Amino acid sequence: MSLSRRDFVQKLSTITALSALINPVVAKNLRDAIEDTALMTDKEIAENENFWRKIRDTFGLSSTMINLNNGGVSPQPIVVQEAVEKYNRLSNEIPSYYMWRILDKGREPIRQRLAKLTDCSAEEIAINRNTSEALETIIFGLELKKGDEIILSKQDYPNMINAYKQRAMRDGIVLKWVSLELPQNNNEDIVQQYESLITSKTKLVHITHVINWTGQILPAKEIVEVAAKKNIETIVDAAHSFAHFDFSIKDLNCDYLGTSLHKWLCAPFGTGMLFVKKEKIKNVYPLLANDNPKSSNIRKFESLGTRSFATEQGIDQAITFHEAIGIKKKQKRLHHLKNYWVNKVKNISNVSINTPQKKNLSCAIANFSIKNRTPIEICNILQNDYAIHASNTRAENISGVRITPHIYTTKSELDILVHAISEIAEKS
Ligand SMILES: Cc1ncc(COP(=O)(O)O)c(C=O)c1O
Repeated sequence: MSLSRRDFVQKLSTITALSALINPVVAKNLRDAIEDTALMTDKEIAENENFWRKIRDTFGLSSTMINLNNGGVSPQPIVVQEAVEKYNRLSNEIPSYYMWRILDKGREPIRQRLAKLTDCSAEEIAINRNTSEALETIIFGLELKKGDEIILSKQDYPNMINAYKQRAMRDGIVLKWVSLELPQNNNEDIVQQYESLITSKTKLVHITHVINWTGQILPAKEIVEVAAKKNIETIVDAAHSFAHFDFSIKDLNCDYLGTSLHKWLCAPFGTGMLFVKKEKIKNVYPLLANDNPKSSNIRKFESLGTRSFATEQGIDQAITFHEAIGIKKKQKRLHHLKNYWVNKVKNISNVSINTPQKKNLSCAIANFSIKNRTPIEICNILQNDYAIHASNTRAENISGVRITPHIYTTKSELDILVHAISEIAEKS
């Protein structure tokens, strides 16, 4: 398949954009990698080990362990680490001058870039420290009263569940629970589960875009649609979807969304983002008070006090790095890596895959289990005998081992995983 002129022009502009990277060696390596694949389609690139080896070289990775728990938090490319170190050293020269008068101003261009990445207005984006902070700003900031109902799922992230339970305890809101049977191949059934809990008292539907335990992608847009028809607000936990696969907030049409930038964007640890639809900003009280809590200015959610400005500024290099590769290429590679190992183990006896494979139902993350072995046992064997770091998941009705490759993961690393799984299964 040949490249369209538009694709080619896009590649050229990516190469030009790389001049914004602070490390000229990394910029050159990336530029070379992109130039080498200039005539390939994204699908061909997804399967090209040479290209991704060059991407791998822009990270500083462990030489003793294989990291397959990138779902927890991502490593940062070297350019991002160097940016944080540079801004931190600068801050330490005269902290109050460099942090409050210089670096503080760097938040606005980053806001603009994040808005462009997510397809919304910069006036709808607040920069903070993580998904928990973003979503709890909404959960605690909405004016809810006794008897108001919230729909959420038993498989949502514990921090969010705990926040709703705390509001139920303090304010008497009522929690209505969906319980998802995962893996689930039928999106209509999922939407129906949420819809069936809607009553005249429902005020908010909480949707986890990607269930972190297994990697199942929920039909967030369709759930939002059903709620919006009944004038019910929606909040999306995008911890695992943002910068992992291509979607637009405008298209999703939710009212609120929170994500961590230290996951799939590979930004510095402790960086996150909150989206609030412009017309809803005035209705949400900030978690950390501001002089005008009813204002419509998104910046009212950024009264965090002193924070690491160096960390925040590192987001800029992470965006440049992410854009250089491009979300479509990244998504295809991640999906390809997941399918690569899943296809090799799914028919081994005693092995079950707890994640659907289809493109719209999962991307990088998948979860497996082995008969007669607990997830902890499997993770210990992977760690001790094969030097593989993975995550054991036991939550509600889910039990398994979560495997999350990243863009720097090689297929030879996944071959070691496949070998490990087949040996453990054989002995079980
Ligand atoms: C679905 C989901 N939501 C929220 C979070 C919380 O992210 P953070 O610790 O960055 O706040 C996570 C973390 O893994 C998650 O998987």
